[in-house]
Parts: sequence; C-alpha cells; structure tokens
Amino acid sequence: MSISVPKIVLVGGGQIGGVLAQLCAVRRLGDIVLYDVVPDAPQGKSLDIAEASGIDGFDSKVAGTNDVKDMKDADVVIVTAGVPRKPGMSRDDLLTINAKIIQSVGENIKTYAPNSIVIVISNPLDAMVTLMQKTTGFPASRVLGQAGVLDSSRFATFLAWELGVSVKDIKAPVLGGHGDTMVPLVRYANINGVPVMEQLERKYKSADKAKSVMEEIVKRTRDAGGEIVALLKTGSAFYSPASAAVQMLEAILRDEKRTLPVCAKLNGEFGITGYYVGILATLGKSGVEKVMEMQLNAEEQAMFDSSVSAVKKLVEDMGRLGF
Ligand code: 2OP
Repeated sequence: MSISVPKIVLVGGGQIGGVLAQLCAVRRLGDIVLYDVVPDAPQGKSLDIAEASGIDGFDSKVAGTNDVKDMKDADVVIVTAGVPRKPGMSRDDLLTINAKIIQSVGENIKTYAPNSIVIVISNPLDAMVTLMQKTTGFPASRVLGQAGVLDSSRFATFLAWELGVSVKDIKAPVLGGHGDTMVPLVRYANINGVPVMEQLERKYKSADKAKSVMEEIVKRTRDAGGEIVALLKTGSAFYSPASAAVQMLEAILRDEKRTLPVCAKLNGEFGITGYYVGILATLGKSGVEKVMEMQLNAEEQAMFDSSVSAVKKLVEDMGRLGF
C-alpha cells in the first residue's frame, strides 16, 4: 500500500493564489506548489505562508516556483492565472487577454500534469474552462470551473443578513454562467428546507414587498463581483473565490461526493450538449462524477436558457479570436 500526500499546484500567484495556498496549508489538504511567471513573487508568498506553520501547526510543504516543470505529477491544479477586471469592466471584457494565458497554462498542464483534475477560476469563467478542456484534451470530468459555490455563498450571505438567521442553515443555489445572466434560484432558496420566500412574506406581511426585497438580493448577487471590484479599485474579489475553490478541492481530495454548484460540461442535461455552464454536480476523487438534473419551471428555464446563450456567444467570440 502506498500512502501519498496529494500534490496541489496553484497556477497564478496573485491574490487568489496566495489565499488558496494558505487555506490549503491550514486545512492540511496536501503539499502545495505556487507557480507564477513573476520572478521571486511566488517564492516570497510561499515562504511567508510556510513560516506560519509553527503557529498553525501544519506540515504541508508550501513551495513557490517560476518553473512550469514543478507542476509535475500534480493531483489537482487550480488555475487563477490571468488578469482581473478593473472598475467598470465586465468579466467578458477579459476574454482576449486571458484566453492567451489559459491556453498556455493548459499546454503546460497537459505536458506536466496529464492525470490531474483542473479547477479554473480565471474569468470569463465559462469560456476559460471551455478553453482549458479543449487545450488539455482531458475528459470533461477532470476539468471544471469555480463560480457557483461563490455565487451561491453570496446569495446565501445576503439572505442570512436579511432574515437574521445563520447562513449555515441556508441553501441558495445559483446556476447558469458566471456573468450578468447568472440564475439565482429563488424558488429553491431555503432555510433548513423552509422556502425563503415564505419567510420574507411572513416578515413583511406583503407578497409584493417580499418580492421586491428578493429582487434586490438577486440583483446584488448578480452584481456582487462588480461591487467588490468597484470598492477595491485594483483587483477583484479574492478571499471568497479562494474559499469556494477550496470547498471543491476538499470534496475531490477527500472523495466526499458533495453536490455543489460548479461549472461543468453538459452532455444532454437540461437539453444542452457540449457547453460548460453552472449546474449542481457531485464531486469526488474522479472530479465531476455526476451532473444533477432538476426541475426548472418555465421562468427559471427561460433565465437558464438566456444564460446559456450568453455563454455560447462568449465561446463563439473566443473561437473567432482563434482559440
Ligand atoms: C467574482 O465574481 C472574481 O469572478 C470573481 O468576484
């Protein structure tokens, strides 16, 4: 029997990469390699994180590198490489510049970590995951994107604040593309199984008021990434995207079979074939092990379809750019 410590490679040593490395270390998820093209920067960040091991008590190795060969034999690669948006930009505005970066990262993953599972975080997310799978040629089960866990956490957080309950008891799935057309599933949002809408109606004693409060929360969820970009002035959200990706990573490394909102490739589910889009999927040691189909009503289906159309358009634009 061989017992091996998982090797986690983080491609991109920026803000998300740094938080990811720290979270992976303190949660003892495996040995960590933080890769970036910028000389010395990933080495500096890794050293800083490693030097907390005496405080946090982890034995995981945390190493920084500028050498792609250090991706060798990674079990999981998390990709944050690329540029974040600036205030006023949409995620889609990053297409050209980030596609070039993701293609080159994908080629390196294919060469040095051919058996890895790849989680992409770079934006525009749905297009970047699509390109990653195309470039690596990996089965779709081994290439997925992080967006839904974050979008759903944002939705749940705003609902918890509104209702004065612990976010731990809220489930609030967001499906669709990780863009302005994402689909927060209001009907499925619940507190320990009890519909959130029912509680809003009780709180406000008015169905109309409850509806308008929910509309505000849905809008804030859709715009949440942009709200942070506008506040930070430079860069985009990084703590919460890192936490979201770590939840997915943990589900994979520990073979938890968690059903989480992730960007996965559809193969006939929801009537869609060959496109990456946010849905609920079961994650385990093989990556995306199952896509969960679910009943959408006419209104939800229409929103989902329009979100998928936006993803298709983005992927077509990317094709026209030669990717
Ligand atoms: C966000 O939604 C960075 O896409 C990420 O904030």
